[in-house]
Amino acid sequence: MSVITCNEDLRVLARRRVPRMFYDYVDSGSWTEGTYRANENELKRLKLRQRVALDIERRSLRTQMIGQDVAMPVAIAPTGLTGMQHADGEILAARAAEKFGIPFTLSTMSICSIEDVAAQTHAPFWFQLYVMRDRDFIERLIDRAKLAGCSALMLTLDLQILGQRHKDLKNGLSAPPRPTLRNLLNLATKPRWCLGMLGTRRRTFGNIVGHARGVDDMDSLSAWTAEQFDPRLSWSDVEWIKRRWGGKLILKGIMDPADARLAADSGADALVVSNHGGRQLDGAPSSIEALPAVADAVGSRIEVWMDGGIRSGQDVLKAVARGARGTLIGRAFLYGLGALGEAGVTKSLELIRNELDLSMAFCGHTDIRAVDGAVLIGA
Ligand code: GLV
Repeated sequence: MSVITCNEDLRVLARRRVPRMFYDYVDSGSWTEGTYRANENELKRLKLRQRVALDIERRSLRTQMIGQDVAMPVAIAPTGLTGMQHADGEILAARAAEKFGIPFTLSTMSICSIEDVAAQTHAPFWFQLYVMRDRDFIERLIDRAKLAGCSALMLTLDLQILGQRHKDLKNGLSAPPRPTLRNLLNLATKPRWCLGMLGTRRRTFGNIVGHARGVDDMDSLSAWTAEQFDPRLSWSDVEWIKRRWGGKLILKGIMDPADARLAADSGADALVVSNHGGRQLDGAPSSIEALPAVADAVGSRIEVWMDGGIRSGQDVLKAVARGARGTLIGRAFLYGLGALGEAGVTKSLELIRNELDLSMAFCGHTDIRAVDGAVLIGA
């Protein structure tokens, strides 16, 4: 294998190694994928301001996200079906994050369960919550996250209904894949993946199957998801969830200044400017475009983070410059995971860190906490 120098190399390798339906699940947005593409493209369009003849010898990327020390302003985003990119994917990514010194967020729709990830790691992780109609189940999920020592709850606000992703419908996405001829032919070309999956018992939605009433196999699960995500979610639900959880709360999926003000009023600790990686409302602006107005609307009342399109250190630098105190990465770590397991996640984090460090220095800065809009040309 040739030397891996950027996250694009990991994506290409992941596409070779991960079964098509799971690779496609990651590398897709809803409908035309316009917002998905815009997330990356608008970041690329921003130009950095080079400065010279400044002492840039000693540099630091360390900062804090909701009071937690982080090695760089990046956390691993919650992503569904991570354990289908690679066997035991959530555990491997959580371990890589822990060793690197950044937070890992476990999705409600993960393959490895909350308890499993807690048992296989040392550092506390964050748990992402989807709100279902079955409030008993939600209360139990919150309590399970508490019991597992999770240090923050990330409530996703933009997925009570699902944006249509054409590829998932065409591929008949399921976990594990159904034994159709098309799937079996594709799996036959992914021997590493199959071997990994044969060696683990974690092959279905670990937080749900066996925990939610009536869900003990996959077929009932897909129907259950469509029925159970609660489209009535409101700010008063945010309030009871905050009360029940009692710890640090992060609200993900804010795109509008009016919603940002409500998020700040709710008393949450952070909000994430996010269009769900372009997977929900196709036609929404890119995250980097939406970020400045949201940051202006809330000032310092709540921490503002951003996800969507972050693939490189320069992307992190640009998000920070536009007012994000932290960023989340989804696809960037998933490609590493699909390509090379835990080592691939570590590689993707190292690539981001090195590029962030050097790019910050080229812009004349030595401390990420001091970076502001002045590093962007025309800002
Ligand atoms: C779920 O979070 C998804 O975007 O598929």
